[in-house]
Amino acid sequence: MKIANHIDNLRKTIKRLDSSFFYYDLDFLESHLSEMNNLRDQDIKLWFACKANPLSSILKLFRNLHFGVDVASLGELEQVTRSGLKPQDIISTGPSKSKKYIRSLLENEINCVVIESEYQLKWLNEIAKDMGIKAKCLLRAQFEWEGGSSVLGGNDVTCFGMDRETVSAIDLKEYPEVEVIGFHVFQWGNILDLKRLETIWDKICLQIKEIASQVNVDLKVIDLGGGIGIPYEKGEQRVPFDKINEVLVSLKKKHKLQKIWMELGRYAVGECGLYLSQVIDRKKTRGVDILVLDGGINHIARPALTGQSFPCEVLYHDESKENNSKTKNFQVHGPLCTSLDKLGTFELPEDVDYGDWLIFKNSGAYGFTEAMPFFLCHNLPAEIVSYKGDLMTPRTIKTSTDWLV
Ligand SMILES: Cc1ncc(COP(=O)(O)O)c(C=O)c1O
Repeated sequence: MKIANHIDNLRKTIKRLDSSFFYYDLDFLESHLSEMNNLRDQDIKLWFACKANPLSSILKLFRNLHFGVDVASLGELEQVTRSGLKPQDIISTGPSKSKKYIRSLLENEINCVVIESEYQLKWLNEIAKDMGIKAKCLLRAQFEWEGGSSVLGGNDVTCFGMDRETVSAIDLKEYPEVEVIGFHVFQWGNILDLKRLETIWDKICLQIKEIASQVNVDLKVIDLGGGIGIPYEKGEQRVPFDKINEVLVSLKKKHKLQKIWMELGRYAVGECGLYLSQVIDRKKTRGVDILVLDGGINHIARPALTGQSFPCEVLYHDESKENNSKTKNFQVHGPLCTSLDKLGTFELPEDVDYGDWLIFKNSGAYGFTEAMPFFLCHNLPAEIVSYKGDLMTPRTIKTSTDWLV
């Protein structure tokens, strides 16, 4: 999204709220999603991993553009159905699925449950039998890889899915009420290198084909999860979707696949969002220039969780002030009483000071709902939406008196 097109809206919102907020450009999101729709092969099905941003106005855009949605909790399921998604357009991933939750997934008639353990498979079968239905599912596998870890595990042992040995040993005759339509594998996140994505996906397809024949599954779907990156660092470029589509189509041909599914989070919504917070204080500590903001990891925790910052720029409080070309590095902190509350070190105009605002870009994914909002009882951030010329506030700020008892 182009920040320059939104400066008036941002300044209006700052004046009105005087507190930190997220801001989403839904026209940008709509054209990005439409472009993906137009470019994708008909056998590539796109779902939105709504953990990335479950705001209803965002979900409704996905619904209107005929994307499916992946939910990973009862809360997400309720939010998605409240936003008008049809059961056929919902799938469910996630390592923590109780019997009660699996029953509500089936009662809501969702398209497909992604099975992540032997118990989940057993319970799905029992509940389907009890309800007199056949339940569609994917089996989620977790592979060993060369190379390090990732938010999604990488080569680490995680709670996601089942290891190759376990999946390969499943005897489907024990689960007659379950129809396994394919497999799901997703272990690597935020990758910007198309060649690396291709290598990972190729290896997944190869192993899944072997497992499918061992378990005797008629392989209709391979779900590759998410994992396509967006630029967070200077000089990084987004991978264009036509290139991603080309790679998926060539894998489909090479491995003779019927359908490839992807559940995109970051790549779908990351670039449509901003987070804005005001500079409250500036100081120098042992030679390091420090800015302290109104909001930090209580609003946007990803930098502390992953060690990666969102790109940042200054919006001066004084509207007539030109951007100072002289810059220096600032260590930027939030308001919490923990040194974990650090949003990064940024090169910013040297005259940035209290009262100015910082704009964190590409923060449409893993923002509001990934944070730790209650610690220290600061305001919750608002969520602001710009769409077709309208500026809307689906969520205004909340103060501690709204939730503390
Ligand atoms: C099962 C599953 N699918 C998809 C995603 C979305 O991943 P990304 O944001 O990398 O596209 C996630 C993210 O955690 C996930 O857990």
